[in-house]
Amino acid sequence: MPNNIKEPLFPFVSDELIADVIQGDALDALKKMERSKFDLIITSPPYNIGKSYEVKTSIEAYLKTQQEIIGELIRVLSDRGSICWQVGNYVNKGEVFPLDIYYYSIFKNLGLKLRNRIIWHFGHGLHASKRFSGRYETILWFTKSDDYIFNLDSVRIPSKYPGKRHFKGPNKGKLSGNPLGKNPSDIWEVVVRDWEEGLWDIPNVKSNHPEKTGHPCQYPIELVERCVLALTDEGSWVLDPFAGVGSTIIGALKNKRNAVGIDKEKEYCAISRSRIEKLREGQLKIRPIGKPIHKPSGREKVAKTPEEWRQLKLTGLE
Ligand SMILES: C[S@@+](CC[C@H](N)C(=O)[O-])C[C@H]1O[C@@H](n2cnc3c(N)ncnc32)[C@H](O)[C@@H]1O
Repeated sequence: MPNNIKEPLFPFVSDELIADVIQGDALDALKKMERSKFDLIITSPPYNIGKSYEVKTSIEAYLKTQQEIIGELIRVLSDRGSICWQVGNYVNKGEVFPLDIYYYSIFKNLGLKLRNRIIWHFGHGLHASKRFSGRYETILWFTKSDDYIFNLDSVRIPSKYPGKRHFKGPNKGKLSGNPLGKNPSDIWEVVVRDWEEGLWDIPNVKSNHPEKTGHPCQYPIELVERCVLALTDEGSWVLDPFAGVGSTIIGALKNKRNAVGIDKEKEYCAISRSRIEKLREGQLKIRPIGKPIHKPSGREKVAKTPEEWRQLKLTGLE
């Protein structure tokens, strides 16, 4: 489905699609699953390092556990399947540990091939004072083989200059673009938490936003959807081994894929189940994929220099 198609805010989901939420430890649950079932495994793993005193050892210990889980994930991944591993930085006492750098060699050593290191760029976040503020995380997209599912047409985005033509060569004068739009590239601009940005038609939705749950690090459904649409087919199976409140499951079901999510926390699994139920009933409001990101016009009150700061400028205190 190209992004320029208008989508309903409250999508409906067929009863035939399966959504399974498993409460338990990822490794234990994975060991019971059949091999080669999933065309896509997408997740944002926990960053539970730094709990122990020694940082270096704790990263190693953390990665060792993760490596065991990744081994099982590869077993349950289909031959044409993909793994999308969404991570940011782990920061300890001001020192930054980019987790994708640590993870890359684990996947590579287990025989997977990297197809893209996607930069997920977002406009909002914490303001750092002793380094530049972080405004991106990454998604490592690996495949199990060279013959992998990739439906580029499903995720094309509107081209900036659709009327552009070849200006030389044998195709001179012919249109150079694709009528379905352009390749979205490996830099994705997806809002982190749109309820915090007030992007919706209803003003001041903020914390009342239906996509918001009690989970501290939920990722946007839209991020999942692009991977689901490009890397699986309708009816495929999608897995999230650290499913949190089920954003992956929602993104898969909404696009006619079956999904399984595992999380060790009972509370998060309950939220997942309730979100799935709402989705099935057509009551879960979801930001439509590809909806343009809000850009302030400059006329909004918050986009103007406040009076107090203007005064500072005048008195030379700035
Ligand atoms: C970064 S969050 C994922 C959030 C998810 N992407 C969402 O949008 O809701 C990581 C999740 O992994 C779960 N988790 C951590 N260790 C686990 C384990 N060994 N087995 C299963 N789940 C685990 C945590 O409870 C947490 O919800």
